[in-house]
Amino acid sequence: MGWTEYLDTHQARFVEELCDFIRIPSVSAKPENAGDVRVAGQWVVDRLTAAGIENAAMFDTAGHPVVCADWLHAGPDKPTILIYGHFDVQPAEPFDLWKTPPFDPTIRDGRVYGRGATDDKGAMLIPILAAEALLADTGRLPVNVRFFFEGQEEIGSPDLPPFIEANLDRLQADMIFSADGGQWDPETPQLILALKGVTSLEITVTGPHSDLHSGMHGGGVANPAQGLAHLLASMKAPDGRITIAGFYDDVVELSDEDRAAIAQVPWDEAAYLAQTGAPVTHGEPGYTTRENLWARPTFEINGLTSGWQGEGTKTVLPSVASAKVTCRLVADQSPERIFDLIAAHVAAHCPPGVTAEVKRNPGRADPFLVPAGHNATAIAGQVLEEVYGKAPYKTRVGGSIPVMSTLLDELGLHAVIFAFGHEDENQHAPNEFFRLPTFRLGQTAYVRLMQRLGE
Ligand code: BES
Ligand code: MN
Ligand code: MN
Repeated sequence: MGWTEYLDTHQARFVEELCDFIRIPSVSAKPENAGDVRVAGQWVVDRLTAAGIENAAMFDTAGHPVVCADWLHAGPDKPTILIYGHFDVQPAEPFDLWKTPPFDPTIRDGRVYGRGATDDKGAMLIPILAAEALLADTGRLPVNVRFFFEGQEEIGSPDLPPFIEANLDRLQADMIFSADGGQWDPETPQLILALKGVTSLEITVTGPHSDLHSGMHGGGVANPAQGLAHLLASMKAPDGRITIAGFYDDVVELSDEDRAAIAQVPWDEAAYLAQTGAPVTHGEPGYTTRENLWARPTFEINGLTSGWQGEGTKTVLPSVASAKVTCRLVADQSPERIFDLIAAHVAAHCPPGVTAEVKRNPGRADPFLVPAGHNATAIAGQVLEEVYGKAPYKTRVGGSIPVMSTLLDELGLHAVIFAFGHEDENQHAPNEFFRLPTFRLGQTAYVRLMQRLGE
């Protein structure tokens, strides 16, 4: 049976298997799900083995495990590729916004709904199925293939750098392809040429040693919530420009060519406003919204906590106020340097009467900018053009994949995103889904990629 026929004949089983995979609640952020992340890792080991991939094994790290496997019999004259993906998922809360339960996948309108369906379980299963089809068809793969899947991407891969350093022999390759990422839309491919980095932190402002009566003490002592509001307002101007000293110093400015390339990708302002529900677009002055989304750094408050959060009034002067913040970074910003600049800013601008402390939260990633002319990008683009019948858009994204820069540092290789989710599939949100036609198309694309690389 040829590989196309094999994929078609077995598609129903593959969808069942994807549903089994989604049923495992491998939420890396929640300690109570650590066992489930391991179960998902073992599921991946078993699935790789069933596909005919060799040496599939789970490896421990200081945190969640990783899975490695390989098939290395294509011969020394053929390239070795490393395929990356992650089997952990984001928390599914708030549960009540899901039409069907997040870990009880259901199929509606040719889509499978469930947490992790697109990010990244459906997408990371694709290359395994492509390899299975080729092995079933020809008994071999056209290139040497290594698989590298992790269980901690969604918390920033904190324990991967030491694992990678200690296991370079298992990861040695000529090219890296990421099965995490995505395509433009079901009809249009894309080549993602940049991912943002991230630094994650929490600012805590403290004042009195306990909450106080706001009438008896207001005007007598400083209010930490007011202090925090002042600090946050001092870091970003109302026009969208970040006002932390040195914040933009290391940013690689967009060249005229970069701006022209970005402008070639269609932008629909009305559709964006409809998608987000925001009244107008808003970002750093001097850049288009697309440029801000793709190529400029951000400072975003992700959570704010202080005082009475219930209904109505409680006349309290809170003793503590805190904010969770993440900054998305672009080349050549460093997450560590940006954290230091924020800490220095907070120290310099803390208003009188309160104290402010800044601490890093787990989750960091270096920005990732693929150099022009990277050879694997060209081949990936050709395969996408063949499979979709359309040239890929050249895009960037605001998301991050922390391990990409570790792989670059340790293996000297830029990953090429070769992945088949779409932006509208509710990643990290309620009602996440994956389109089954894309699931199938991605399998063909991975087969063709391996075949092209083996020619
Ligand atoms: N798959 C995403 C990143 C992504 C999104 C790549 C869209 C390409 C297109 C990934 O799983 C993710 O969500 N990463 C986190 C990393 C963070 C926890 C450090 C992110 O970007 O928030
Ligand atoms: Mn992902
Ligand atoms: Mn994600």
